[in-house]
Amino acid sequence: MTWQDKVAVVTGASSGIGAATARLFASKGLRVFLVARRLDRLLELQAEIASAGGKAEVAAADLRSEKNRSEVFYQIGAADVLVNNAGFGWYGYFHKMNWNTASEMLRVNVEAMAHFTSLFLPGMYERNYGRIVNVGSISGNVPSQGIAMYAASKAFMDAFTTALCREARGTGVHVSVVRAGPVKTEFCESALRHENGGHVPTEKVGVTSEYIARRIWQLLVRPKRVIHAPRWLGIAPWAELSFGWLEDRIGPLLLKRAGK
Ligand SMILES: NC(=O)c1ccc[n+]([C@@H]2O[C@H](COP(=O)([O-])OP(=O)(O)OC[C@H]3O[C@@H](n4cnc5c(N)ncnc54)[C@H](OP(=O)(O)O)[C@@H]3O)[C@@H](O)[C@H]2O)c1
Repeated sequence: MTWQDKVAVVTGASSGIGAATARLFASKGLRVFLVARRLDRLLELQAEIASAGGKAEVAAADLRSEKNRSEVFYQIGAADVLVNNAGFGWYGYFHKMNWNTASEMLRVNVEAMAHFTSLFLPGMYERNYGRIVNVGSISGNVPSQGIAMYAASKAFMDAFTTALCREARGTGVHVSVVRAGPVKTEFCESALRHENGGHVPTEKVGVTSEYIARRIWQLLVRPKRVIHAPRWLGIAPWAELSFGWLEDRIGPLLLKRAGK
């Protein structure tokens, strides 16, 4: 299996997990399309990849817009690999979440992921080859207090991935979800930028973007429906089933104590 010049689309490539994934893919010989809003960051990454001998192209777009997503698809045409990674969080009581922020979150975390999948997947089936990796969160399985909309968006991604993975069984197309725990990126800063956004409790802990990128790479090489990153988080869905009642009791107190 050669990865040379396979086309990979990485959304949210201007920072964090997306940038690390794009860098890693390019170092393996893939031609990477970098998608996000911040053009300066994308151009910087493109230049860095080129100077290391890799190939990257920029497709700047605000993924809240359906029109922009379609334009990105027409620019790229066909992809062998799609990493739906663009997304953002917000922390606090849902009743204090401005609907604009909530709606934006649905459009980026849910709609853009499903829309890009619907645009690129048919071509993958035609060529009987494709890899889609959705960057989800363990919160999709453990919907804690303070992240109602975010957890629900990642639960959608999780269910969507599972169903698509089952549809693709026996073909050359594979669809996977990464259930990530905290990762040290700009995620927590970005959550604070939205109206009434609070500090994400896990902002000081987490694995590196490079670690997640390596796990994503492993998924391309050896596809699996779901991975947990870090691995020990595999117990979390079981803990939710067994001890969800405990979180029901202490969760509201934690949120109240945090002053959100
Ligand atoms: N960090 C964590 O603790 C953690 C844990 C679990 C899952 N995740 C997931 O990992 C993914 C990547 O996040 P990260 O941790 O790497 O955070 P990050 O550094 O803040 O990266 C988020 C990326 O999404 C892009 N993005 C956000 N809104 C966009 C929009 N409207 N249009 C286009 N691109 C947009 C951002 O680019 P622009 O701002 O340039 O548009 C940026 O490249 C997210 O889906 C997140 O939910 C993160």
